[in-house]
Amino acid sequence: MSNLIRYEVVNRVAVLVIDNPPVNALSPTVRDALDHNIARAVADNAVDAIVLIGAGSTFIAGADIKAFEALKTIDDSMRRSESMHARLRRIEDCPKPVVAAIHGNALGGGNELAMACHYRVASADAKIGQPEVLIGLIPGAAGTQRLPRLIGPELAIRMCTDGKSISAKEALAAGLIDEIASGELRAAAIRFATGRAARSETRRTRELTDRTLDKARAQQAAQDTRAALAKAAKGTRAPYAALEAIEYGLEHTFDEGSIRERELFAECLVSTESKALRHLFFAEREVAKIPDVPKDTATKAIEHAAVVGAGTMGGGIAMTYANAGIPVLLKDVDQNALDHGMAMIRKNYESSVAKGRLSPDALARTLALITPTTSYVGFDRADIVVEAVFENMDLKKTTFAELGRVTRPDCILASNTSTLDIDELAAAAGRPDKVVGHHFFSPAHVMRLLEIVRAKQTSAATIATSLKLSKQLGKVGVVVGNCFGFVANRMLAYYMREAYLLLEEGASAPQIDQALTDFGMPMGPFAMQDVAGIDVGARIRQYLKSIGKTRAEGPQSEVMDRLYELGRYGQKTGAGWYRYEPGNRTPIADALIDELAASEAAKRGVTRRAIADEEIIARVTTALANEGARVLAEGYAIRPGDVDVIYVYGFGFPRYRGGPLFYADTIGLPTVLQRVAEYRTRFGDYWMPAPLLEQLVAEGRGFYEAASAKPP
Ligand code: NAI
Repeated sequence: MSNLIRYEVVNRVAVLVIDNPPVNALSPTVRDALDHNIARAVADNAVDAIVLIGAGSTFIAGADIKAFEALKTIDDSMRRSESMHARLRRIEDCPKPVVAAIHGNALGGGNELAMACHYRVASADAKIGQPEVLIGLIPGAAGTQRLPRLIGPELAIRMCTDGKSISAKEALAAGLIDEIASGELRAAAIRFATGRAARSETRRTRELTDRTLDKARAQQAAQDTRAALAKAAKGTRAPYAALEAIEYGLEHTFDEGSIRERELFAECLVSTESKALRHLFFAEREVAKIPDVPKDTATKAIEHAAVVGAGTMGGGIAMTYANAGIPVLLKDVDQNALDHGMAMIRKNYESSVAKGRLSPDALARTLALITPTTSYVGFDRADIVVEAVFENMDLKKTTFAELGRVTRPDCILASNTSTLDIDELAAAAGRPDKVVGHHFFSPAHVMRLLEIVRAKQTSAATIATSLKLSKQLGKVGVVVGNCFGFVANRMLAYYMREAYLLLEEGASAPQIDQALTDFGMPMGPFAMQDVAGIDVGARIRQYLKSIGKTRAEGPQSEVMDRLYELGRYGQKTGAGWYRYEPGNRTPIADALIDELAASEAAKRGVTRRAIADEEIIARVTTALANEGARVLAEGYAIRPGDVDVIYVYGFGFPRYRGGPLFYADTIGLPTVLQRVAEYRTRFGDYWMPAPLLEQLVAEGRGFYEAASAKPP
């Protein structure tokens, strides 16, 4: 048998140490080894009780997600679940007491295994949860049946539908664990097991009934959760399936409930939702792997930071550093701007305190980490400086030249520019290997994406440090190439182009926004722009116009310019694509937009028409896939997964659709290419198919799928 489980006997207790680094995932071989060792302990006359414990830093942190990929059909899944259910039942039927000793994480299959044990002892820092919904699944090893029997329906429903873990303390209060170990976990678990063995006590979770007798409470909890999910989990299936499995189990026997769970699990496993979420799970881990930046590249410790420019972005970036416990200087040239910036930061923290997300103590501690300044004094201590001054090349070059002088030679100099060429800034700084783009998204302390822009001479160490730092800051760092708009905004430009043109062709702003929120975007393009500021986009367009460029090829809708001229900048001026009542952010449709769109359409000779929601979705998603293919082929993104992670974290593309490229694969690239061709005929040559898209279709592949046999 493999050495994934060590068998040790201490004071007549068999201690089974699960040793499958890094997280003791419950792989098929671990499951076999567990079976074998449990049977051995049952047969062992020198053993009265059994303790299951994880080696290293954790108990079992879940099933092996990669192994799910091998399960292609409902039948594959049903067979796996049946065998899992039977294995756990054998543990539960064990005549000798079985105790799970939990430290680190007991997640998913790990908690399901722990619940099949008779008792659970945990260390104080343990976390326990059923996070399957986060990858579009439900607990598949009777978790939806044992959990409510152990802790009651309310908490079981919450844990299985939101996927969040609970602490050992909460688990103890709920009855999910029986003891928090004082002192060493292993010794405590052995003691606990010995005590139960002395009294010949075992307790089968599946036979517990006292927590599930109150049917009315269970029904209420289910009803409340359904109402909450309608908002929080729009468009997804897995949380509802988890709820259904729990409800079914409460109305039926454990065995009947288990069968229903297996069916629902199988249905989820083969769903596009789960495939998309599992794809993102791996893509998010993959982004940190850069082919020519070896894993062991030395990184620089970031202990002191500085931010230049205390505007919208600079303030948010300073907060991001402070939130991670890193002291940060915040510099502005203008005392008023600095005061305003600090006031905004304080207001943001105070609103977190008001919402109960931050304690007043933590507010004081975090705020104290941000030091406002109008000079470069102290910049010699900084390990990194992030520049967030106005989007103006001359100003940024001057700033980088100054930073090159006032910081230590090993200090990393990052720019938060949205569009400017990082190579020019690198040259101005005089240490190009340490210059990089750190493109945060607004609001910077909230949005999780960080585009790490690699310029020609950015060193591997600077990239490796940026990736490590992004984790420290709680961000998802994705390395991209240095092109106009980088990856996120470059793709967004095509998404927006189609939204503007659809508006001119006859769709209304509310219709387009609604179609896209129904599709799963958190906000439609026009509502989003009213938040971001119409002036910001308009200025970039003006700049581009002055140098003879456009953000995306094709007709440039001028409706936005008209709004800019009218001083309608969005929410901040009380009107933009919508109108807003004072103090209220609810968008109100405005007939003026339709008039402006109609007059722009007339100028271009476009006949306005009724447009179906399907066309809106098809147009914007096709534009994203086509441009995504270009970004990939040109090497500005390393992998299709990077593009998907960027659009999901940068703009809230629905996770359960996997990102714009994964979504294109689910539509089928031949269909996507066909649409591009159709649009080219209808609208003009600016709809050119990306060469990579054509190539993949010719090869019978998707962005992700391996090449299949060539079509005849
Ligand atoms: P902002 O106008 O709110 O802030 C710029 C700040 O820089 C102002 O407080 C100004 O006083 C200060 N400043 C100007 N010259 C300075 C100097 N020489 N030294 C120190 N401070 C100086 O602009 P925002 O929106 O924060 O943008 C900053 C940068 O971030 C720009 O490059 C922008 O393209 C980029 N960006 C903006 C995003 C957004 O959604 N607003 C998103 C991502 C990047």
